[in-house]
Formats: sequence, structure tokens, C-alpha cells
Amino acid sequence: MEFEKNILCIGAGYVGGPTLAMIAYKCPQYKVTVVDINPERIARWNSDNLPIYEPGLDEIVKAVRGRNLFFSTDIERGIREADIIFVSVNTPTKTFGAGAGMAADLQYWEKTARQIRQYAESPKIIVEKSTLPVKTAHAMERMLQATNNHVHFEVLSNPEFLAEGTAIRDLEYPDRVLIGSRETPSGLKARQELVEIYANWVPRERIITSNLWSSELSKLVANAFLAQRISSINSITSLCEKTDADITEVARAVGTDSRIGDKFLNASVGFGGSCFKKDILNLVYICRYYGLEEVADYWEGVVKINDYQKERFVLNMLTAMFNTLAGKRICIFGFAFKANTGDTRESPAIFVCKRLLEERAELVISDPKALENAREDLQEAQGKISYVEDPYEAVAGCDAIAVLTEWDIYRQLDFKKIYGSMDKPCFIFDGRNILDHRGLFEIGFNVFPIGKPPLTHLK
Ligand code: UDX
Ligand code: ADP
Repeated sequence: MEFEKNILCIGAGYVGGPTLAMIAYKCPQYKVTVVDINPERIARWNSDNLPIYEPGLDEIVKAVRGRNLFFSTDIERGIREADIIFVSVNTPTKTFGAGAGMAADLQYWEKTARQIRQYAESPKIIVEKSTLPVKTAHAMERMLQATNNHVHFEVLSNPEFLAEGTAIRDLEYPDRVLIGSRETPSGLKARQELVEIYANWVPRERIITSNLWSSELSKLVANAFLAQRISSINSITSLCEKTDADITEVARAVGTDSRIGDKFLNASVGFGGSCFKKDILNLVYICRYYGLEEVADYWEGVVKINDYQKERFVLNMLTAMFNTLAGKRICIFGFAFKANTGDTRESPAIFVCKRLLEERAELVISDPKALENAREDLQEAQGKISYVEDPYEAVAGCDAIAVLTEWDIYRQLDFKKIYGSMDKPCFIFDGRNILDHRGLFEIGFNVFPIGKPPLTHLK
């Protein structure tokens, strides 16, 4: 079959895989190829055991793989054949040199630009999908034009706003699609080409266009605002615990103001995920680079409150359990950074578990999807850890439960049965406020929610 366009995506990760699967699903007239340097990852995309867990993803991949969606390691061929190249390689926080711990590590990004430059023989539209520091497109343009002068490249920014766990819904019905370009005739033409791709399923009024820099910066700012809401509500939880106010009641009262809105006000043990911390630090770094110290400090506060919240959670556990956790068995309910994903990047569970191990607690970690990643994350941690998928089995003989991910299954457990199998006194630390605290207290648990008075039988 003849396809209208060849679309390539470099980087088959959490962003590239689902996004391009959706494009292939909605646009049978295009041939979509996703390439990666990691052959195991590509093998899994070509198998029944996809490398990422995302509700609804399996069905979409099954429907289009081999029809107009292909996964491959042949990057060179992919580049040669493509009209449009999405780049969604990883851009982690730098761990070395200038800007270590703050700035984005652009080595994978630059390597990709060099590969495109090397193999491209015809004009290409290059689309930044990965989240990048503002002005990266300029660096990309310079890199692409450095030697290969006869091929024209047009760089667009099209940040992805999907959230894990709801990626398929977010891709199918996005709040908006943002496309940034140069405002030159060729930039506007390339922008229009990308608009036409999304217009296959996204209403036109939801496709927003802007200049390149606004688009790059908007992604960082959107994530910073979302994270800021969580840090704002989390900062109030400690005050609630001191004053007998209840954070759920406060969040409801505040969120019903339509100017504020009620979403993203769930108090928690802290936010995780690959984006929030990384993007804020990136924003902070850029602000400092331009000498905007006050602005940088303001946004850095969002990350500081998040660190404080995770530490506070551990200290609350320690205080409640008579100031010693040594030798106590603690069951961790949920290791993923949020429900409905197996992803554990920056999960608050990593921090909490490491701190509990430092206190010499023994850990039994349970999670329906994230145990494989949990094992990797705690590979080097010292102490006794076991990994048990079944929550009833995991909790038997434990002194305490710490709920760190808001998986639905934890709401539905038979806590009477669980209480019977645990050591007494029993503690529950609900880091997500998802359980029925009064009911648990009546069973006999000592219950410690976030931002609410504890319910305890201890005098
Ligand atoms: C986020 C953005 O939502 C998305 O638009 C962007 O493209 C990538 O970053 P993601 O990290 O997948 O998505 O998940 P998100 O749902 O935003 O949750 C991030 C973290 O915040 C999770 O740890 C979650 O548990 C926590 N959270 C979220 C809260 O603690 N309270 C809330 O009210 C909401
Ligand atoms: P994200 O959450 O942004 O999608 P991931 O880490 O899940 O990030 O995915 C990024 C993917 O990009 C990884 O599978 C990695 O192997 C791939 N990758 C990194 N550099 C290159 C490159 N030069 N060529 C092709 N793929 C790359």
C-alpha cells in the first residue's frame, strides 16, 4: 500500500511509543515507524509484552502494528525514509559538570540531531516531543545546518502533555495540542503540516499554535504550575496536623472557587514522576542563567516542599511507632509514582523506602505493576527487602502499612482479615488519603492520614 507520508519517531519510551501509536491508529494513511537504540525495548514493542503498562495501549498497538505502525532499530533507514521526524529521546537531569542536578542532560538529544544530519538526504520536519529547555530548537537548527547545507530542516516544538496512567485518553481527547514554529514562510508551512496530522482527530480549536520559544517554555511552565498546586496543598497538610483542621475539607472549600478549581488538590506523600522535578529544576536553572534569582528561588520552593513532605512522612512514622523502626516489618502498599502505571521514576516510594531502611526497618513491598522497577530502584539499598505482589501475603506479620500509591485495589481490601494477620499494635500510614480511616480505626488500627488528625488507640 502507498502511504501519504512517512512519519518517524526516534525514542520508543513512555512518550514516543503511545503518542505515535495514537497517530498511527487515527491516521491509517500515514506510515509510522518508531525506532530506538535499545534493541530489547524494540523487541518488546514487537511482542505481546509491551515495555510499558498503560491502560488501553495494548489494544491500540495490536490494532495497528504491522498495518501502519512499525517498531525497529534501523535508525538510519528510518531517517532516510521519513518526511517528519518526532524526537522523543530521554532528557534527564544532568548528573555531572556544570548544572549537575539542575540542567537538562542534552547528550541523547544532540546525538539524535547528529544522526539526522548524517543520514538525511531530503527535506525534513523535525518535531521536538521531549521536554527541553527553552531555546533548544535554536541549538538543534544550528547543529542540523552545521554541515548538511543542501538539505532543509524545519524544527518545530510540539510538547506532549499526556499523563501516565491516562495516556491513551489524553492522546485521544487532549485539552490542547501545542505547536510552535519559526514565523517564517517555511516555518509556518511546516507548522501547518503538523496541524493537519492532528486535525485527523483533534478539533481545530484545540490545536494551538505559537512561536517556537513560547511552545518550549509553555511545557515547562504547565508542569511547574501543576506541581506547584500539589506542593501548595501539601504545605498546608503539616499545618492541618498541628491544628486539627482536615486537608480534604480545606481542599474542597478552596477548590469550589471556580477561579481555583478542584483538580490536582489531593494531598499526598509527595509528587513523583519523570517530569515535575526535572522540569522545575530545568526552569530554575534557566532563570539563574539569566540572572533571575528571585524567580528561580520561587519555583525551587515547589521542589523543596516536596522533599520536605517525603521526609515528614518518614518522621511521622518514626514518631508514631515509638521512635524506633529497627527490626520492625513495614509493608509498602504501592511503589509506582501514581496509580495505573508501572513507572517508578522519582516515585516518593523510592525515598521513603530508602529512609525506612536507614532506620533499619524491614520492608515488604507490594505493587500490582511496579515490582520489577522497584527491584531495580532498590538494587543498591542495604537492608532486608522482599517483593510480594499479593497484598494479603505481603502484609502478614508486619507492624505497619504505608500506602504510597493510590491503586484502587487498596481501597477494596478486607482490612479485618489484614488486621488479623499483622503484629499488634498495628499502624496504617495513608500517604494518599484513600482509605476509610474511621472504619480502619474501628477495626483496631492506629491510623495516620496526611493532613488530618490521627485516629489512635494508644494513650
Ligand atoms: C505530568 C503532567 O500531568 C503531564 O501533563 C505531563 O505531560 C507530564 O507530567 P505525570 O507525571 O504522568 O504527568 O502524572 P501526574 O498525574 O501529573 O502526577 C504527577 C505526580 O503528582 C504523581 O506522583 C501523583 O501521584 C502526584 N499528584 C497528582 C498528587 O500528589 N496530588 C494530586 O492532586 C495530583
Ligand atoms: P520519555 O519518558 O521522555 O519517553 P524514556 O526514557 O521512556 O523517556 O524514553 C526515551 C527513549 O529514547 C529510550 O527508550 C532510549 O533508549 C531512547 N533513545 C535515547 N537516545 C536515543 C538515540 N540516539 N536514538 C534512538 N533512541 C534513543
